[in-house]
Amino acid sequence: MKIAVIGAGWVGVTTAATLASLGHNIICADVNVSRIQKLQAGEVPFFEPGLLDLLTEGIRAERITFTGNNRDAITSAEVVFCCVNTPTGNDGITDIKALVAVAKDFARHHAPQAVFVIKSTVPGGTAKKIQDLITEDATLTNHDGGFGIASNPEFLAESTAVTDALRPARLVIGTNDLSALETMKRVYAPMLEQGIKLFSSDCTTAEVVKTAANSFLATRVSFINEVANYCNAVGADPMSVALGMGLDPRIGMMRPGVGYGGGCFPKDVQALLTEAERQHTPMTVLQATHQANYRQRQLLYGRLRQALGDDVAGKQVAILGVAFKPKTDDIRDAPALTFIENLLADGARVVAYDPKVKSRLVREYSGLGWASSALQAITGAHAIVLMCEWQEFVDLDMTTVKKLMAGQVVVDGRYVWSRQTLEELGFTYVV
Ligand code: UDX
Ligand code: UDX
Repeated sequence: MKIAVIGAGWVGVTTAATLASLGHNIICADVNVSRIQKLQAGEVPFFEPGLLDLLTEGIRAERITFTGNNRDAITSAEVVFCCVNTPTGNDGITDIKALVAVAKDFARHHAPQAVFVIKSTVPGGTAKKIQDLITEDATLTNHDGGFGIASNPEFLAESTAVTDALRPARLVIGTNDLSALETMKRVYAPMLEQGIKLFSSDCTTAEVVKTAANSFLATRVSFINEVANYCNAVGADPMSVALGMGLDPRIGMMRPGVGYGGGCFPKDVQALLTEAERQHTPMTVLQATHQANYRQRQLLYGRLRQALGDDVAGKQVAILGVAFKPKTDDIRDAPALTFIENLLADGARVVAYDPKVKSRLVREYSGLGWASSALQAITGAHAIVLMCEWQEFVDLDMTTVKKLMAGQVVVDGRYVWSRQTLEELGFTYVV
C-alpha cells in the first residue's frame, strides 16, 4: 500500500521503518528541513537501538522516501499516519495545533477513500473533532470520494521501540466506519497473520486506551516508590519487595527509584488530569501519582543533602546518567535535571556523565561540568548520584570508585547496587 507518515520524530521514523518492513511504500514528511536531509542521507536524528538498521533496510529496498512537503506525501497515499508532536501546555491542555494543520493538509489533498490515522497521543474525542472540522469547513473542498478517520495509538517505549513496533502486545485501532477498519486491517495484515491481537473500537475509546494505559503505568511507578520509602523505614528491601510482588502476573515487574521522566508519562498524566477535570470527573489517584513522582525527586535530594551534612556548597557531586532511562539519549523531564538544578542552586560543583547524552547541557546549565567517562566524573567527588541504570554503572568496580572519591556518599536512584556491599566498603548508601 502507499502510505504517508507526517512527522519524522521518534514515533514517525519508527512507524515509517516498521510499515516499510511490512512491505508498504512509505513517503515520510516533516517541516524540519535539516531533519529530512539527515534522513535522506540515511541518518537517524536520535539514538534508538535497532532503528538505523530497520530504516536502512527500508531505504535500500526503495520502500521509504522523504519529503519536506506534506502535500507530496498525502496526494497519492491510501493511508496518512499523523505522528506530529502534541505537547502538553503549561495549562495542562494538549496542544493539537500541529495535528489540526496536518488534518487540513489531508483534507485538501487526499486521494478518494484515504484514511487519516492519528498516531500522536491525544485526548479522548480528538478524532471526532478532526472529522467534524474536515467535514464542516467549506474551504476544505477535496471531499470527493470520501475519507476515513482512525485512531491508532502507539505503545512504543524508548530503547525497545523497534521490537515494540514489530511485535506489539496488541494493535489498538479505533475507526469511524467499517471501511476505515478494513483499510487499517490491510495495513497491518502481516502482523495480524502472525497472531498479533487486534483491539478495535470507536476512535474515542482507542484514544482513551492510550492515555489511560500510560497513566496506569505511571501510577505503578509512583506506587512502588512510596512502597520503597516505607520499606526503607521498616528495614525491608525495596527491590526484593517489588520482585516478590511482581511474580503475581496480575501485578508484573516494577522498579522503584527516583521516579518517572521522559516525553510521555509526565505529559500524558498531566493531559489526562486536565481533561478529566474539564469533564468534571477528577482523577484523584492520578493526581497523587503526579505529585508523588515529583515529591520523590525532592525527597531523594533531601536525603543527599542530609548525607552531606546539609553542607552542599563547594562539594563535588558526580551525576551518573542524565537520560530519563537507559539506552536512550532523551533527557525530557529527566530526574537527573532536577538534581543538577538543585545542586547548582545550592552551590555544589556538579560533574555529569552519560554514555549517550552529549555535553550540550553544559551550555544550558552554567557551571555544570561534563566528564567523558564515569570514572572521570567520580574522581574527587564527595558524592555520586546514579539517576539512570546504564549497565556500565551497574558494573562499576565499587572498590575502585571508593578510592577515586573524595567522600563516601552514594545515592542509588535506581536500586542497582546492594546496600550491604556498599556499606561494607565504607560508603554511605542513600536511597
Ligand atoms: C510525538 C508526540 O509528541 C506524542 O504525543 C505522540 O505520542 C507521538 O508523537 P515524538 O515522535 O517523540 O512524539 O515527537 P517529536 O520527536 O517531537 O517529533 C514530531 C515531529 O513532527 C518533528 O520532527 C516535527 O518537526 C514534526 N512536525 C511537527 C511536522 O512535521 N509538522 C508539524 O506541523 C509539526
Ligand atoms: C512509555 C510507555 O512504556 C510506552 O508504552 C508509551 O508509548 C510511551 O511511554 P517510555 O517513556 O519510553 O515509554 O519509557 P518507560 O520504560 O515506560 O519508562 C518511563 C519512565 O518510568 C522512565 O523514567 C523509567 O525510568 C520509569 N520507570 C519505569 C520506573 O521508574 N520504574 C518502572 O518500573 C518502570
